[in-house]
Amino acid sequence: MTQVKHSPDFGLSHVLSLADDDVGAALRKGFHHFVALQRLMMPTASEWYPCGGYMMSPHSGMDYEPSMLAKQAVLFEACKDAKTVLEVGVHGGHSLLLALLANDSSTVVCMDIGAYGHTLPCVRYLQSQFPGRVLYIQGDSSAILPLVHATFDTIHIDGDHSYDGVKQDITNSLRLAKKDTIFILDDYYDGVERAVRDVGALEVIHVPNCAWTNCVALLTDAAKDAAKDAAKDAAKDAAKDAAKDAA
Ligand SMILES: C[S@@+](CC[C@H](N)C(=O)[O-])C[C@H]1O[C@@H](n2cnc3c(N)ncnc32)[C@H](O)[C@@H]1O
Repeated sequence: MTQVKHSPDFGLSHVLSLADDDVGAALRKGFHHFVALQRLMMPTASEWYPCGGYMMSPHSGMDYEPSMLAKQAVLFEACKDAKTVLEVGVHGGHSLLLALLANDSSTVVCMDIGAYGHTLPCVRYLQSQFPGRVLYIQGDSSAILPLVHATFDTIHIDGDHSYDGVKQDITNSLRLAKKDTIFILDDYYDGVERAVRDVGALEVIHVPNCAWTNCVALLTDAAKDAAKDAAKDAAKDAAKDAAKDAA
């Protein structure tokens, strides 16, 4: 059985020394949730190690990873004013926890292919702690995203990190965006970077300087126009359907 190291406090000392800004305060307030998630992840370590998450890396073992604070802050900020968040790639629920801590009244629709046995228990834990705020769909994002009919204030893409996988997730989530939707793409290197560039609908506006960095992106002007047209078409279709139903 794979045992991943952790200190007795799971890295709480790092969190206690963070500045008292929004993300620092939230991480302190929510640290017990992080520890609960880590405990749920331990039994399946042989399935997932060394795949990291927003709060841990192979380097930190099961402990909180302070060198990723800047990307945690970026996701937290992007979810602060978001009423609706979409997440692809849940794993142990670290980024999901950040999104939930960022705004007390948001809802998060999230999905994961379920590659690891702990994802469902971690989601169930967060659903119990943040009632009514997490809708989880287990399956392949390439099949699920086309079935989603809603728009989101923030879209976090952190699932299949291959070039083709990210390209497909970006393409499929464009129709779920509004003109001011904030996109966060994790592990902004290699395939992810190329996929963002090749899809061409997103403009990267910030890349924090930290380990395993993410990026913040917005729709380009051309993509905003396309989103507006799609929303108009959808409204027209809905009106036509309503008229047909009434006749
Ligand atoms: C890097 S982990 C996500 C980390 C997570 N956001 C966190 O902070 O802990 C990537 C996750 O994406 C999932 N995944 C991979 N391919 C996927 C796909 N095609 N559709 C949905 N989820 C996928 C994996 O099962 C894994 O749990």
